[in-house]
Amino acid sequence: MVKIRKELRDLEVYVPGKPIEELQREMGLRKVVKLASNENAFGPSPKALEALKSAIYNVHRYPDDGCFSLREKLSERLNVKGENLIFGNGSDELIILAMRAFLERGEGVILAEPTYLLYRIAAKAAGLKVETVPLKDMRYDLETMASRISEDTRLILVSNPNNPTGTYVTRGEVESFIEEVPNDVLLFFDEAYYEFALGGEYPNTIEYLGRGNIITSRTFAKIYGLAGLRIGYAVADREVADVINRIREPFNVNLLGQAAALAALDDEEYADFVRRETDKGKKYLYEEFSRLGLAYVPSATNFVLVRIGPRAGEVYQRLLREGIIVRQMDAWKLNDYIRVTVGREEENRFFIERLETILRG
Ligand SMILES: Cc1ncc(COP(=O)(O)O)c(C=O)c1O
Repeated sequence: MVKIRKELRDLEVYVPGKPIEELQREMGLRKVVKLASNENAFGPSPKALEALKSAIYNVHRYPDDGCFSLREKLSERLNVKGENLIFGNGSDELIILAMRAFLERGEGVILAEPTYLLYRIAAKAAGLKVETVPLKDMRYDLETMASRISEDTRLILVSNPNNPTGTYVTRGEVESFIEEVPNDVLLFFDEAYYEFALGGEYPNTIEYLGRGNIITSRTFAKIYGLAGLRIGYAVADREVADVINRIREPFNVNLLGQAAALAALDDEEYADFVRRETDKGKKYLYEEFSRLGLAYVPSATNFVLVRIGPRAGEVYQRLLREGIIVRQMDAWKLNDYIRVTVGREEENRFFIERLETILRG
């Protein structure tokens, strides 16, 4: 038998939302609506699709390893230098690379609970010591997280907004937190839902780049609708970015992803459309949840955590049988909840209609 590293023996598996084709196969269903993985239900921008049509003829070539055009465009857009940008095969890769680049086995990472499941899996796979701090009123408790920093702590991950609650920590909270974190501790802000959350007290952590220990990641998977192409980026201090760049695989960002992301950035109108439609869908879901007597967590993202009660597991299964995939929350220990991604209008209606029937049944 080959030897498996000790810390990997009981590593939990990341279970993604059920794929549409899998449910179709399993249940013999034709119509399946997936509201489980916080994807963009409206599809990619038409400009991104156009760019893909021409890029596809070049897939016999390796992609641009340095993501030159995308780097230029984003550095201008974000008002940072090109050397501050890192690109990844999804922003997930950047989280994993940051752990690999800056933490030795046995060093500590502070995470919230519940939060994005990948953090814990990646940390355990890297042999890190994980400390978790519960959310407070469904929001990150940055004060307590700061108070847990010890000699061992090398990294703190903040999902802002948080998946699966959809809540965020404010500019004021982040600024006090940053003051508490020593500058040899890396602070990773995962802003996968940044574009949905913009406005109000929501911070832009790229503004704190000058402190040197802050990484901010964002993605083309959500508002830009390119989840299937796996492309994300992060902004960090030049030296931090440089180390991550040196350990990443060559050509880690594929050619189609680069072409589509570049075009998507030129279609802010489409991103605005997705944001507006998402807000409309969210408002509809909130109203319907209230009508059905279900408590939900108001969300700054494109998904909503809703409390079903002790029947949540059964409701999840029955929704599947109806061809609706939402997210079961057991892995987050939120057994009474389901998480639903905001879909298109007809998808939201279909979900609510079936949910109501199941709850009344
Ligand atoms: C908080 C959070 N971070 C990162 C990701 C993954 O993003 P990407 O597709 O860019 O890897 C997700 C996806 O659901 C997420 O919820």
